[in-house]
Amino acid sequence: MKLAVLSGKGGVGKTLLSINLSTILAQEGYKVLLVDANFSAPTVATYFRTVPNTHTLDEAMSKGAVNPNEFVWIHPSGVHFVTPSFNLVGLDDQTLQNIFTILTPLFPNYDFVILDGPAGVEKDVYYTVTNSDAAIIVTNPNYPALYNALKVNYFVQAMRKPVVGAVLNMVTGKDEVSREEAQHIVETPIIGEIPYDPEVKKAVNAGQPIVLYNPNARASKAFYDIAEALLGKKLQKRPKGGGLDDIVRKIVQWLLG
Ligand SMILES: Nc1ncnc2c1ncn2[C@@H]1O[C@H](COP(=O)(O)OP(=O)(O)OP(=O)(O)O)[C@@H](O)[C@H]1O
Ligand SMILES: [Mg+2]
Repeated sequence: MKLAVLSGKGGVGKTLLSINLSTILAQEGYKVLLVDANFSAPTVATYFRTVPNTHTLDEAMSKGAVNPNEFVWIHPSGVHFVTPSFNLVGLDDQTLQNIFTILTPLFPNYDFVILDGPAGVEKDVYYTVTNSDAAIIVTNPNYPALYNALKVNYFVQAMRKPVVGAVLNMVTGKDEVSREEAQHIVETPIIGEIPYDPEVKKAVNAGQPIVLYNPNARASKAFYDIAEALLGKKLQKRPKGGGLDDIVRKIVQWLLG
């Protein structure tokens, strides 16, 4: 299964979802390749606290590398990932084609290929969707993000690829569009809701997926729910909860009534 993670507006949480979904799937025993397909503004490696100066897609292209060991990174979580360097500029058709010529032979080796895409509906998104089986759209619960998510939905549909649904991220439950209205706007089912969670920033600073940094964080629970929704079954390795965080939150909720 090759899943493109897309959005209309930037900065809505595509990479956060891609990294955590990949980590959960790898922990379940699936072979996962996470592709940083945001070639013009890559962030996957930096989320893992790595600066990709070598073993990159552009280096592989210039060397004509065919050995995956030359450009596939292996994160301790079990996730394999590939990334461009920060030197890759000028994304013309030929470059995008060359990147996927290197990448696609790897795909059959994996149970899941997660393509962390760029925002919008430009050429790079076209190549990401072409090389995927389906797309998931990430959005925030506000009108600019939602209507641009709708635009991406139309774009993917025009390419005759299925959209498995949308994920609402940075949900605060206050002064924002409701889940029902959001679903109505994006014209695809909302398959998950991720709360705005200050733990995310801590996990990013620690260079770890939040599902490993704090499996009981509210955002982590949302990622586990989304993984279960996508797989259509319960996870075997889902943390049981009941950690200190959980207990403190329950007490606070109880005190607040
Ligand atoms: N649920 C959340 N709670 C708190 N912070 C979040 C949450 N989701 C995302 N963030 C933060 O928002 C920022 C943007 O997230 P992310 O990089 O995943 O977005 P993106 O859609 O991949 O952006 P781009 O379009 O640039 O690729 C990051 O700093 C991330 O840590
Ligand atoms: Mg991103």
